[in-house]
Amino acid sequence: MIKPIKLAQKDFLSSLDMSTEECTHIIDLAKNIKNNSLNLEYENKVLGLIFDKSSTRTRVSFQVAMSRLGGTTIDLNPTTSQIGRGEPIKDTARVLSRYCDLIAIRTFNHSDLEEYAKWSTKPVINALTDLEHPCQALADFLTIKEVFQDFRNVVLTFIGDGNNVAHSLILCGALLGVEVRIACPKGFLPNPFIIKKAREIYKSDDLLKIIHDPQTAVKGANVLYTDVWSSMGEENQKENKDKEFNGFTIDTDLLSKANKDAIVLHCLPAYRNKEITDEVIESKNSRIFDQAENRLHVQQALLSCLIQ
Ligand code: CP
Repeated sequence: MIKPIKLAQKDFLSSLDMSTEECTHIIDLAKNIKNNSLNLEYENKVLGLIFDKSSTRTRVSFQVAMSRLGGTTIDLNPTTSQIGRGEPIKDTARVLSRYCDLIAIRTFNHSDLEEYAKWSTKPVINALTDLEHPCQALADFLTIKEVFQDFRNVVLTFIGDGNNVAHSLILCGALLGVEVRIACPKGFLPNPFIIKKAREIYKSDDLLKIIHDPQTAVKGANVLYTDVWSSMGEENQKENKDKEFNGFTIDTDLLSKANKDAIVLHCLPAYRNKEITDEVIESKNSRIFDQAENRLHVQQALLSCLIQ
């Protein structure tokens, strides 16, 4: 029977913090948890939640996941704790390590997350930064595995901004050997460091493609994925980005150019009829709400592999 393994890295800041075997293990463990073939108990364990940005799925899935594991969460809202006052991260991290067993953090700068991890003696989890959203990518690949059984011959096309969600998909895709195509306008490429790291993992340039024409990018794709064009904190770029991303909407016409059995994913929240049409979200190809549910199962699996 599958049992949680302890990850080699203390923290989960990036998809790069997993080996291929660890990534596959977390996804399979989550599948077992979802199918009720595995019950885990971590009584009295406490997960601290620091969210500098809004969240529905990540926050609630961590809260419910911890509750199902028999533990609890503490909401360390920056506006009601001393975090909002600007207490140094190195002080907060050391103090919270004395109370909590793990800490999940959503913040802007990835370097702040790394600073927490440096000073915390307990595992720190990336609940989204400007650079990555690795918990999301695990739920995405669980959803893909549920539909296609394995990752062989799966082609995932991400259509939109080369952002944090795209970065974690690229890295997780590289670990799992999935062909990932990023369809983005010329000025919105993924971070070159992420591309370099992914190509090192793939050991090939062929499985990661950057394409600027969505129509070409979806040909032969099994998975179409998108995210909002303007992320949290980019509200002032919205008007410009809406213009730049003209033609990058997943609509029924674009979907019809992908494989017949293609599924559609979106990490949510969506701006309907901007990056994806209402019709596609509600279509039979959409697995968007299974994907959202899978955040919960993956969080349980991940927590169980990080709890010390
Ligand atoms: N996908 C995602 O991270 O959703 P939330 O912003 O609601 O957590």
